[in-house]
Amino acid sequence: MLPKSQDAGCCDVDGATYTRRRGFTSIYLLIGIPCQVGVEMVTVFPQKSSTPEFRYPTCRWYKTALFLKIEKKERAFLPKLKHGVSCPKIGEWLTDGGIILETPTFATRMSRLGTESAFEVLAKAKQLEAQGKDIIHLEIGQPDFPTPSNIIEAAYKAMKEGHTGYCPSAGVPAFREVVAHHITETRRITIHPDEVTVTPGAKLIIFFTILALIDDGDEVIYPEPGFPVYESVIDFIGGKAVPLPLREEVGFRFRLEDLVDAISDRTKLLILNSPQNPTGGTLTAEDLEAIAELAQKHNFYVLTDEVYSRILYEGEHHSILSLPGMKERTILIEGHSKTYAMTGWRLGYGIAPQAIADKITRLTINSNSCTATFTQLAGIEALTGPQTFVKEMVAEFQIRRDAIVDGLNAIDSVSCVKPLGSFYVFPNVTQLPLSADALADYIMEEADVALLPGTAFGKYGDGYLRLSYANSLENIQEALGRIETAISKLTSDSYD
Ligand SMILES: Cc1ncc(COP(=O)(O)O)c(C=O)c1O
Repeated sequence: MLPKSQDAGCCDVDGATYTRRRGFTSIYLLIGIPCQVGVEMVTVFPQKSSTPEFRYPTCRWYKTALFLKIEKKERAFLPKLKHGVSCPKIGEWLTDGGIILETPTFATRMSRLGTESAFEVLAKAKQLEAQGKDIIHLEIGQPDFPTPSNIIEAAYKAMKEGHTGYCPSAGVPAFREVVAHHITETRRITIHPDEVTVTPGAKLIIFFTILALIDDGDEVIYPEPGFPVYESVIDFIGGKAVPLPLREEVGFRFRLEDLVDAISDRTKLLILNSPQNPTGGTLTAEDLEAIAELAQKHNFYVLTDEVYSRILYEGEHHSILSLPGMKERTILIEGHSKTYAMTGWRLGYGIAPQAIADKITRLTINSNSCTATFTQLAGIEALTGPQTFVKEMVAEFQIRRDAIVDGLNAIDSVSCVKPLGSFYVFPNVTQLPLSADALADYIMEEADVALLPGTAFGKYGDGYLRLSYANSLENIQEALGRIETAISKLTSDSYD
């Protein structure tokens, strides 16, 4: 029997709060069973814990733990634990869907590391597919086009020529040169190859920059709803994550007043992302000028995530790096994943002042050593070879964007802003009778369409869904039809 001190009531309260705030479909509770009599410890491990208030004293003493997967609607069974349950053996599955595990004790920081729920939704969708369901995937953020063949050929040639060993940690010199030239041209500011650091995917530049710059308690302002990795990594590293709300009424940009309010004496870094994931919003040249002025006045760095810079449907891309006085305090993130449909190749890079670039390289030496040599050589072909693929892909995305925006706006109680960039839409569903989380679950179950609740991108995403249109027009049309049917059923049911 669980000792009486293992009252699970408090877990219920916190778990429920967490679920509401973060929008997860399920939560996991880990209830430690102390081996030392009288030591009372309860540890709550939500799937994505980044909020310290949900952490209880970590139990270093327990040998066994109850690991219970609790679906949102099934939380009612929790009070049973209050009266104690018999303690099954390690590895034994509980009828509730939990399992008894022997748990290692983790470093405290691990409880602050979040995740990307797109991968969890994908796993759930795959599970449903295995059961014979025909799921349409609108949850995943990667182009549905194959990598252009000239890039594949270049990688193959590089491998055949023996470029299969380690390379310099900062990147292959020839690739860094091509990148420096590309950024010099597109951002209209001279970049030296020494200011380029190559990593296996742009994501690592986010991680390494925050790791290199942020000390305990330093504040980092980041856009919300935003790419979940920003908040997760800031928390993990011990920084203070300060969300900057993006607002639908201004095309999912942030208001300058909100930025001014978010700045404090401890602000060390501001993260920008334009075109944006998950909303597709873009910052204007005027926004960037005002932000640059604030960065210089308050002396903070800017990490500008521009991985969608070329997936833009109107106007031209603006980068804060181009503005006077900003090169010294800007780290630009770019990569080949989205532009050249190379997500699985893992090829990204950062442009940073030499001193910061050196630290990113030092972190590379201590972690992944380098980015695959042949991938970088293929990356040269991507940047210097024909660019027709990019143009055609963006033209196709634009057709789909128009179709999905029109389709969503035609659904009763749903409204969708037409985004200017990336390949996501972020429809407003506040008029519907379900929360965004419940609605995303409902659409998956009822319409066989996988998409994400806005809360997967932070609390300001509440009331929205994110749909990726990196899927064929035919599938998008089919998904829209299914969503419309499911939603009309939902609204008519709720008025019955
Ligand atoms: C805003 C944003 N930044 C960075 C990344 C990471 O890209 P990469 O595949 O190059 O690591 C993504 C991927 O989805 C993204 O959406």
